[in-house]
Amino acid sequence: MSQQLALITGASSGIGATYAKQLAARGTNLILVARDEARLNLLAQSLREAHSVEVSVLAADLTNHDDLLRVDREIQQNKAITLLVNNAGMTVEGEFIDGDIAKIQTMLTLNIVALTQLAHSAAQAFRARRNGTIVNIASVLALVSESANGAYNASKAYVLSLTRNLHRELAESGVRMQAVLPGLTRTEIFERAGKSINDLPAEMLMEVDDLVSAALRGLDAGELVTIPSVEDVQLWQNYEDARIAILPFISLNKPATRYL
Ligand SMILES: NC(=O)c1ccc[n+]([C@@H]2O[C@H](COP(=O)([O-])OP(=O)(O)OC[C@H]3O[C@@H](n4cnc5c(N)ncnc54)[C@H](OP(=O)(O)O)[C@@H]3O)[C@@H](O)[C@H]2O)c1
Repeated sequence: MSQQLALITGASSGIGATYAKQLAARGTNLILVARDEARLNLLAQSLREAHSVEVSVLAADLTNHDDLLRVDREIQQNKAITLLVNNAGMTVEGEFIDGDIAKIQTMLTLNIVALTQLAHSAAQAFRARRNGTIVNIASVLALVSESANGAYNASKAYVLSLTRNLHRELAESGVRMQAVLPGLTRTEIFERAGKSINDLPAEMLMEVDDLVSAALRGLDAGELVTIPSVEDVQLWQNYEDARIAILPFISLNKPATRYL
């Protein structure tokens, strides 16, 4: 197999850093993206030493337009990249109405705008080469509207929806898509949003190594959507079947009889 090169956003901590470690252990070369350059350099050095892989660092604030375009150019121009892990994301604690709208907008810029830009460029570049994989990190909150502040949930529903459509557009192109829907996972995301991880129910909290290794196994198995803790995969199939069953009826030229 030819040498793989993965670009991982949000690689300085949590799920992204764990992807970096597990992919390096598989022999994948890496480009690590996040804001904290010193932290990325430390991780890069340890991965080079442990796994003899090539690791480069691209420090960027993906909510900054110029920084985003720098990362975007790397995806467009570096033809060795075979995997994009679109992982960088944040949440904002609290309910929507009393939440800080500036923080919510920053969150949407990171979780939606940046992810979209990078997915777009990777899809074009990979399709042209008929090879490559895009992993978008969503959340189980993509399936839950009535919790958190709603805007985070909606940003993750967007990621799931975009991934499904990219899968459709890239069928027959040789390019793979995967949406990963983590449940609560032990990372820094809660502390960054001002919430203590100790307040979360232990039975719902997955260790980040388990989460990423399940996500990679889901990718190996060819899954489009991976929800690591769902034991009975038929439950997900039923959910998808119900979603698809209504599609022939949601846009017709007459209102339903109950509205006449
Ligand atoms: N942990 C969970 O329970 C959970 C559940 C479902 C989904 N997720 C999703 O998983 C993804 C990773 O989150 P995590 O849990 O691993 O959280 P995390 O430990 O806080 O990691 C977030 C990563 O994103 C980077 N980042 C944050 N803001 C950025 C910006 N403006 N520009 C570039 N990079 C930025 C951070 O690095 P810097 O600070 O160095 O920039 C860090 O590397 C997110 O998309 C999150 O929504 C997490």
